[in-house]
Order: sequence, then structure tokens, then C-alpha cells
Amino acid sequence: MKITEMKCNRMVNPMGYTLNKPRLSWITEAEEAIVQIACQVIVAADEDFLDILHDSRKREDIDSIGYTPEIGLKPRTRYYWKVQVWTDAGDVVSSVAWFETSKMDEPWIGKWITPDWEDRSIHPLLRKGFSISKEVAQARLYVCGLGLYEAEINGKRVGDEYFTPYCNSYHHWMQYQTFDVTDLLGKGKNVIGAMLGNGWYKGRFGFKGIKENHYGDRFALLCELVIQYADGSEEIIGSDEDWKAAPSHILDSNIYDGEIQDANKYMESWSSDSADDEQWACVRLIDIDYHLLEARRSIPVRIKEKLKPVQVIHTPKGEVVLDMGQNMVGWVSFKTEAPKGSLIHLQYGEELQDGCFYRENLRTAKAEFKYISSGESAEVQPYFTFYGFRYVKVEGWHGEVRTEDFTGCVVYSDLEQIGHIETSNPLVNRLFLNALWGQKGNFLDVPTDCPQRDERMGWTGDAQMFSGTACFNMDCDAFFHKYLYDLAQEQSSIGGLVPHTVPSFGMSKKNENSFLSAGSSAWSEAATVIPWNLYLHYGDRAILEQQLNSMKDYVDYIRKQDDGKRLWNTGFHFGDWLALDGQGEFDRFGGTPTDLIATAYYAYSAELVAKAAKVLGKEEIAEEYGKLSVEVKEAFCEEFVTPRGRLAADTQTSYILALFMDLVPEKFRGRIVESLRKNLEDNKYYLKTGFVGTPYLCRVLSENGYNDLAYRLLLNEEFPSWLYAVKLGATTIWERWNSLLPDGTFGELGMNSLNHYTYGSIVEWMYRHMCGIQPLEDFPGFRRIRLAPQPNRMLQYAKASVKTAAGLYESGWRYEDESLRYHFRIPFHAEAELVLPYADIQNVVVNRAPLEQSPIKYDIRDDHVMMVLKSGTYEISHLIGK
Ligand code: BGC
Repeated sequence: MKITEMKCNRMVNPMGYTLNKPRLSWITEAEEAIVQIACQVIVAADEDFLDILHDSRKREDIDSIGYTPEIGLKPRTRYYWKVQVWTDAGDVVSSVAWFETSKMDEPWIGKWITPDWEDRSIHPLLRKGFSISKEVAQARLYVCGLGLYEAEINGKRVGDEYFTPYCNSYHHWMQYQTFDVTDLLGKGKNVIGAMLGNGWYKGRFGFKGIKENHYGDRFALLCELVIQYADGSEEIIGSDEDWKAAPSHILDSNIYDGEIQDANKYMESWSSDSADDEQWACVRLIDIDYHLLEARRSIPVRIKEKLKPVQVIHTPKGEVVLDMGQNMVGWVSFKTEAPKGSLIHLQYGEELQDGCFYRENLRTAKAEFKYISSGESAEVQPYFTFYGFRYVKVEGWHGEVRTEDFTGCVVYSDLEQIGHIETSNPLVNRLFLNALWGQKGNFLDVPTDCPQRDERMGWTGDAQMFSGTACFNMDCDAFFHKYLYDLAQEQSSIGGLVPHTVPSFGMSKKNENSFLSAGSSAWSEAATVIPWNLYLHYGDRAILEQQLNSMKDYVDYIRKQDDGKRLWNTGFHFGDWLALDGQGEFDRFGGTPTDLIATAYYAYSAELVAKAAKVLGKEEIAEEYGKLSVEVKEAFCEEFVTPRGRLAADTQTSYILALFMDLVPEKFRGRIVESLRKNLEDNKYYLKTGFVGTPYLCRVLSENGYNDLAYRLLLNEEFPSWLYAVKLGATTIWERWNSLLPDGTFGELGMNSLNHYTYGSIVEWMYRHMCGIQPLEDFPGFRRIRLAPQPNRMLQYAKASVKTAAGLYESGWRYEDESLRYHFRIPFHAEAELVLPYADIQNVVVNRAPLEQSPIKYDIRDDHVMMVLKSGTYEISHLIGK
């Protein structure tokens, strides 16, 4: 028996984050025990637990999915915690975990500084020397740099994070990070420094016409190095007028275009005492509002994986191109000893065309890396940019280009993968991986649409639609907490409206009927759908507390538009984006009326507000929005459903929304399901859906008696289908069903990314229906689940595992000759309501004993067997009957 996954706000030992009320969670892993009898949580000021601040005492009602100890938090303080769990088979004590607070309300002693030179594009190094005469007990660096910063102390990089201080609406708040730098300091002379790049804050980023300097046009740094000495005294070294500045070897950098480095300008050990700053320029103070500063919410972005190129390609045009074998996000690093002055030029692209390097689909993004060599041997990588790519064109390389000289660094937010899927079909397995790689590539601090072209923004719709899949694949709780906080900040300045992207980067023009406005249905629903998904997956009430006003404000915004008619038929909407039933092959808006989609989502969002309010015990709000949702559903029916239950728009997405969002009276469901089936039949059982319909398509089919059609759609290999892309060699999910045409050429170039995760939302169906792992609203965090696998002969086997907030679930099935065999694992202190699509219990065998003789309670309903499985592993099989 052991206690694992000890997390605070779903992060392991977080330091310097905004914690609000710390929420502690853990998993008890116990093979021999089934249930928890009691639990005790202790929080102390010291690692030996002598100074106890909170003792829950042994209690029966503590749930490991989330426990909030009542303690008043002090700034810059570490709190230690441990847990003891009593089970039906003995007890277990955890190891010690901790969380450490930020500066909280403490004022800043450090000052915002900027280099004292006029050219605002020169990338600076900033530094200050100081001396230490006493023994250091502990040191922390509290730091924020604009646009992006990388700090160093005594020639060593501080931490292993990239893209600090991360991406959010800097007009509303700025994040500072906290680093433990104790080991970087020593007695005698010390130097602290930082290098800065443009990032999202300044320089080129965003949409046409609003691309430059969104938040500021000057580089700036603010920091405090807080040193605690062994004698109990404390010293703070802050950024101030005494610092010095010099141009760095980064000649230019930005997110879209890449980076240019001149190694001849590189100052070896610029941040150590051996370098002399006599000739360095001065810095001056810069006026940036200190009230904007908040302790970080973004989780770290790190190099999470490294890949070697799989081959070097010599193209018909004579280009030399590295093939990474995988569409990935990050960069390639390399070692070089090229002669002084030579220029190594890397260009990044997603796909070859006619065997040659190609990247028209990146639009205006240059996505390149230039390195001017100093003749010295060097290990090189960019500091302040990233690329979305599979292929890298190499020019100016000295000697033969060899795979071993390059390393692909895969960079994304430090999320833990918790879900896995495998089936008997290798193409489906690749599809799962493609969606996973889509998440890796687009979860770089912000959930982005794509990582390669001149966009890479936190498109709300894409994030909303993929969030269910994302929460199964990885523990996304903290990642989305920050995104949703930022969303609410943006909303607060535009009357509850939700911008199309978060941060908005200027796209938040209120009530404007254009692409650059805000408030498109299905996009803005990031405000309501994502918090609800976090609650379902991680049992996180805190996210509902944090977001309830945002959720409500958004629905109130719609209500103001509806003139009492309860329809949403005003404003700009993206519709069923990129669906195939629009006008023309590459039409973007799809064929489903936008007011139908908007009204459907209006009802759905109002219902989610009601549910969230209910969880929080806010009955009045729950009632108000529950009623609103019912009214909108009624209006939907009046407007879009005939008195006999026919939908006004014969599109797959219309039917899907009506069914998924429960918009029509029960008596009409059958007809609508039938209409969807008929529509699919008319389309030879191929999908036509876009961003709005696709995420729910297979779920609706499996839930309404057409599980076989869901499998058929999953397994279609011709265009348009998921496996069409896989068969054409996709290693990520494409933006369009026809991103590439059957001959491998790009279908359309204006908007065509090969790493766009929205259609990867089919993976949620794989977890929920193919393998049957379904969270229950009444038991958020998977303490109890509905386990309802829906196998189909079109696959021989399928299996999924998810390390949920409550522990590890496994669910799989396999056809064997005359029988169907299931494997399930239910974690400690959890339960599953198993629903098997089979009713002849005489044939059902559970862990080698006939079901009727096993202690498991079961029930037969229609054509299903239901059982409640407690913690444990189960092998269940039955003959394949009817
Ligand atoms: C993005 C999308 C986004 C869309 C809005 C595109 O440019 O890449 O994924 O949701 O615009 O419809």
C-alpha cells in the first residue's frame, strides 16, 4: 500500500504559485484493500512536523480527490503536509510533500528597469554584481521580465523553464515566477542577470493589422533575489538603477519568425564575475504598474522529450532536409564548430511537396533560425521562439548533415500523461497518438489552434471542443485554471463577452459583426464547458468557484441580446467551422445555420451555469439559469423543430446538437436520431461535420442505438474521415478534413495547418464509449464512474487506462472465438456502475465464476446487465449471443 500523486492544486510541490485555498489531493494505491475507513491530513511549518499548523484528525469524510486545510497562509513560506489513510486492510502513511507561497501581498522592493538606449528592438542582457560574506541558508528569485526572460546567476541558467513569464493578457495581469536559487550562490562575488526576448508582449504577434507591440514596446525586468543567511538575517537584491545593460547575441527574435543569433557577439559567462561590465550601458526605471503583478498560475513549459531525426533527405531541388518523423513543437538543437562568420540557416516546415521542402501554409511566419558562427564549438538552440514542424531545411552547414548532429527538443507545458488507448487497429492507434501529439504541440502555456503559422493563439472554440479529450489524456487542471482565469480577465473589460482568443491580442471588439470581434457561439463556450469538464474530471469545485461569475456573465451577455425571445440570432458566429456541407469545397462556415448553433449553445451554457451553481450550493442562481435553459430549449423547438419533430436544418451537426444538448422533447428524439442516420446513409456513411458537430458525432450515435455507425465512421479510410489523414501519413491531427488531397498536395493554403487538435476530440469517444470510462456528475473526479464499454466486431480488441483523480482505471475488451472477454480495474475506494450490452446472465463469467454465483450484485434491464464493481481487477467474459 502506498500514497502517490501528492499534489497541491493538482501540482507536485508547487513553489510561488497563486494558491488561493490550497487543495491537497493524493492517490492511495492498495492492491489488498478495497475501501478507505478514515484519513488524517497534517500540515506543518517544518519538515519534521514539530510545528503543526493543521491537523484534520482521523476522519471518515476526507476524500483524497480534494481536501482544503483551514490555514492562514503567510508570504514566502513553505508548508509541509502528509497523510495517513486507514483501510479495510491496514493503514499507510505518505511521504512528505510541500507547497510554498509566493510574495502574496508583499510590496516589491525591486524596480522595473529597462536598458537606457533608444532602439527598442535591441535584445538586452541585464546584470548586477554583488557580494556575499555570510553562509547562505536559502535563496529565492522572484522575477518577471517583458517580453520573455531567461535569468542566470553566476553563469548558470536559473531553472529549466522556457517562455517565462508566459502568455496571458498583460493588460490585466502579469505573472512573476519564483525559483529556488540557493545552490547557485556562493560566498564572495556573485552576479545575477537576465536576457530578454520579444515573445507575446512586444514585437510581432497576432492578426493582420493588429500585429505589433500588443502590450508594450520596451524590454523590462523586475526581480528580487531574497537571500536568507544561516545567521537568520535576510538580504534582498532587487532590480534597480544600479544594474547594467548590454546588447545580447540575439539579434532578433519573435514567435512567428524565429530567432537570429550572432555567436561573435556572445559574451561567454556574461552573468558571472569573470565578465567585466565596465563598458555596459546604464539602465533606467520604467513605469509599469506594480499592481498588475500576480504570482504565477502558468505551469512550467519544459523540454519534455527529445527526438532524433529519422533521416536526412536530399530533395530533387537539391535541398538538405531533416525529417523528424513526427510533426512536433519546439526546435532542433545542434552542435557546431563551423568556421567563424559562417551562417547556419534552418527553416521549419510541416510537409514536403513533390519531395521538396515546402511551407506556404505557414502564411507570413518565417519560422527560421539563423546562427552566425564564431568559429568556436558551441551547442546551439533558440531562446525565445518555437516552431511547429516535421521537416527542417538546413543551409550553410559545414560538412555533411548527419542525423546525429541534431536533436529535436519537444517543448510543452509540463503536463502528466494520464490516459492511454490501444486497439487491434494500427491506424486507430496512430489516430490516438496524433491527437496526443496535437495536445503536446498545442498546450504550450496556452491551448492554441496551431503551433506553426502566423497565428498560434488561444482560440477558445478549439480549446473548448478538445477539452474533454485533453482532460482524459493529461492532468490539465492547473493548465486550464490559468487559461480560464485569463479568459475571465479579458471578459471583465468587454461586458461579459468572451473574446475569440485568450489572450485576445486585440480581437475583442464589442458587438462588431466581424472576424475580429468577440462572442461567437461554440467558441465563447470555453467559459462554460471547460470549467465543467475540470469539475467532472478532477472533482475540482474550486474551478467552479473561480469561474462561476465568468460563466454567468457570458450567459447574461447572450440574454441581453435575445430581446426576450430566447433565441440567439445576432452577432458574428463561426458556425460549424470547416464543415463539408457549406457552399463549395473549401467554404469555412459549414451548412448548419449559425442561429441554430448559437441558440443550442445558449441553452447548453445556461444549463452548465445552473449545474455549477447547484454544486456550489447557490440554489437561486441554479434555479434562474435552469429555467432560462428550459426557455431557450422551448424557443429552439418553436424556431427550428416542426410540430411533428422534424428539424428545420437537415445537417448532421443540427441533429447532433439537438440530441447531445437535449434540446427536443423526448417524443421527438427517435425521429431526430433516425434523421441523423438517414443523413449519414445519404452521404454513404461519411461525415460532413465541422468543429461544432464533430466532437459529439460518435458520442451521439453510440448513445442513441447506432454504436455500429460510430465505429463505421471511426474506421472509414476514404475522405472525409479520421483515418484518411492517418493513411496519408499524418502524425498529428489536421485542421481540415481535406488539409491534404489524396495525391498528398495541400488542399488550400490560406488556412491549413497540419497540427490542429479539434478533430482529435474523437478520442473522447474512444475513452467514453469504445472503452466505456465515463465520469459521473454526482461523483466528480471518478470516485464512482459509469463503465459502459460498447465493443464492436469491427475491432478485435480495445483497451484504455486513465490515472484519474481517484486512481487508475483500466477498461478493455477482446473478441475471442465465441466469446467476448473484458478486463477492468477499479482503483482503491472507487466504484464502477458496469453496464454490459448483453443480457443472458447464464453465460456471464466473472473472475472464473458464473455471475450468478459470484458475490457481485447485478440487475438486468432491457438488453443490458448492470453490476456495481468495487475496487479490484475483473476478468469478465460471456459467449457472444444475440
Ligand atoms: C483558427 C481556428 C479558429 C478559427 C476561428 C482559425 O484561424 O486556426 O482554429 O478556431 O480561426 O474560426
